[in-house]
Amino acid sequence: MNSFFNGHKSDRLFLDEGEQGRAMHAASSGGQRLLKAVRSIALLLFAGLFGVSLVAPPSGNALAQPVQSVDVTSPDGGISVNLSVEGGRAFYAVTYNGEPVVSRSRLGLLFKDSHAFDGDLTIAASETSSKDETWEQPWGERRLVRDHHNELAVTLASTAGPARRLIVRFRVFDDGVGFRYEVPAQKAFRKVAIINELTEFTLQPNSTAWWIPGREWNRYEYLYNTTELSAMGRAHTPMTVRTPNGVHLSIHEAALVDYAAFVLQQKRPGVLHADLTPLSDGVRVKTEAPFTSSWRTIQISADAVGLLNSDLILNLNEPNKLGDVSWVKPGKYIGIWWAMHIRERTWGSGPEHGATTSETKRYMDFAAANGFDGVLVEGWNIGWDGDWFNNGEIFRFAEAYPDFDIEEVSRYGLAKNVRLIGHHETSGHVSNYESQLSAAFDLYERLGVTQVKTGYVADGGGLRWIDDKGVTHYEWHDSQFSARHHLKVLTEAAKRKISINAHEPIKDTGLRRTYPNWIAREGARGQEFNAWGTPPNTPEHTAILPFTRMLSGPMDYTPGVLDLLFAGPESPNRIPSTIAKELSLYVVLYSPIQMAADLPENYSKYEEAFQFIKDVPTDWEESRALVGEVGDYVAFARKKRGGEDWFIGALTDERARNIDLPLGFLDSGRKYIATIYADGPDAHWESNPFDLRVYHREVTSTDRLDLVLAASGGAAIRLRPAAP
Ligand code: NOJ
Ligand code: CA
Repeated sequence: MNSFFNGHKSDRLFLDEGEQGRAMHAASSGGQRLLKAVRSIALLLFAGLFGVSLVAPPSGNALAQPVQSVDVTSPDGGISVNLSVEGGRAFYAVTYNGEPVVSRSRLGLLFKDSHAFDGDLTIAASETSSKDETWEQPWGERRLVRDHHNELAVTLASTAGPARRLIVRFRVFDDGVGFRYEVPAQKAFRKVAIINELTEFTLQPNSTAWWIPGREWNRYEYLYNTTELSAMGRAHTPMTVRTPNGVHLSIHEAALVDYAAFVLQQKRPGVLHADLTPLSDGVRVKTEAPFTSSWRTIQISADAVGLLNSDLILNLNEPNKLGDVSWVKPGKYIGIWWAMHIRERTWGSGPEHGATTSETKRYMDFAAANGFDGVLVEGWNIGWDGDWFNNGEIFRFAEAYPDFDIEEVSRYGLAKNVRLIGHHETSGHVSNYESQLSAAFDLYERLGVTQVKTGYVADGGGLRWIDDKGVTHYEWHDSQFSARHHLKVLTEAAKRKISINAHEPIKDTGLRRTYPNWIAREGARGQEFNAWGTPPNTPEHTAILPFTRMLSGPMDYTPGVLDLLFAGPESPNRIPSTIAKELSLYVVLYSPIQMAADLPENYSKYEEAFQFIKDVPTDWEESRALVGEVGDYVAFARKKRGGEDWFIGALTDERARNIDLPLGFLDSGRKYIATIYADGPDAHWESNPFDLRVYHREVTSTDRLDLVLAASGGAAIRLRPAAP
């Protein structure tokens, strides 16, 4: 029993009791390297990428059991993860370039009717492997994604009571760590009720944290708080921190399939418990073995920009399960939508009804004339009259109001290459929606609708379902119930080649890789809050989103309202941007479907700016975050998929600033014409938001662009190769 691992390709280690004894002996007689363990000095059994050691407790320690410990590092060696078992309890810790970024933190699972995975654990086996593969996205921020990681799977066994096994699997990338629990098939777990996890993330309490409150009535639709971590309340993920040394971390999860999401609950300063969201009966997860948790993720970077260039969440998801998904189409759309939010039209029937046949045709004409491929129509189906917020049962998903001829408008659009985009507002009444799901999607399929926006506004208490006895239950939007419901909708839609854009969704955990028809979602405060929110979004909101919510995946923010002062100059409700900043959102806030959210008639007032919205693509060959600091400013460059043009979006918070962008991403030796949509000299989001200057410059990859961003301003740039 000497060299257990050489570091690669499925090396295995199984320790039975006899072997543990021999390993202890090897450790004390022939250890090769000194390692700092948490409570004692560990003698590492071997050097290399992976290590297992057994540590004798310090003399006089009451604990009779040895500390068992296993390590794995990232391919570049920058990140190290240690799993240890001490006194029967499992812990992990993460270092980055030698600095502890997650200090020793608990692992474990608690069950309702079964002994916890905690207190009597021992490392029974350990297995390592590594991977370096590049895979292709059907659509996305980049076509090719590299998955390069080292993996360590540790089997923990209980020593008391019946034999029970839990695998903790770590994947360590150069840009972070994912780990999950796997409970293999075994007698003790035929039916399982998980009461909670013991998982913790122990961070430095004096880090700076950007967070929104977790488990609150308005789901993920909150302005971000910027506080010392120790002052953070219960928070949703992704939650981002900057340590006193400037290391940036984002805690989130990946591949949440049939499990509860977690919120971060601070137990002691800096100690964040992964608190699973309960079902209405208090149980967190109901399942049976074999099952796995979602991946708990820690993205790690020396600077803020590094977080933005990480593919870790996608890499931890399973490959596409839908086969040919060429029917999933990125694109740009307009909609009968903003008019309702600014109260010029109504969702419900009556003289101001927005979703009429003639109004839809007017939008379709505008879409066809300006290169949009879809028109979203909200309020077309029966159910919007009365208090739809709290009465989801009134929605009929296949029955139109009499002034909306759905057959006629979809035919009219298709003849112009414009599709009707479907809408299912459920008001969170899941039973009502699920009972009509097939009929609703059948109708859309027959009409040639390929994209449906769903909605789960549910201010009455959450997602509602009615059991066999007629009893009503309310569930959280990030519960296991919700995870299951969203997947059901997604798979029903996929059968009919329909893509889903969910509003008031469960949080994104990268499932778009497995189900590429999950094309976008909301899940944060979007543009709508500028119409009616008190307060509306702040200038810094869009400078925080890229570093928090957007790390999880595409967002249907619905940018492009150019009539910034739609409610009059005195109203607090306005778009908190300059025109240039509003344009930059198309590049900064990634989504494969982007809305031009303003009323069509307004775009004729801002023709010059509108040109950028017409030109900007929504599907990318490559994306690079260039510069940025959380909550202050950010700039992205993205290259059009299937094209040569690059686009840049840059924005700032309420502070004006200059940013200097290197253009090294351009093809070297090639000349490009940059069309720059910049803040004019007097631009200011409050006093002069319309001041836009559009100009051209010839540039090459060795140039830099020095951009002047106004207060809550920005820049949007198109770079076209110059004719040779
Ligand atoms: C909230 C969504 O975010 C919004 O886009 C939609 O218009 C309303 N619900 C009505 O469904
Ligand atoms: Ca919403």
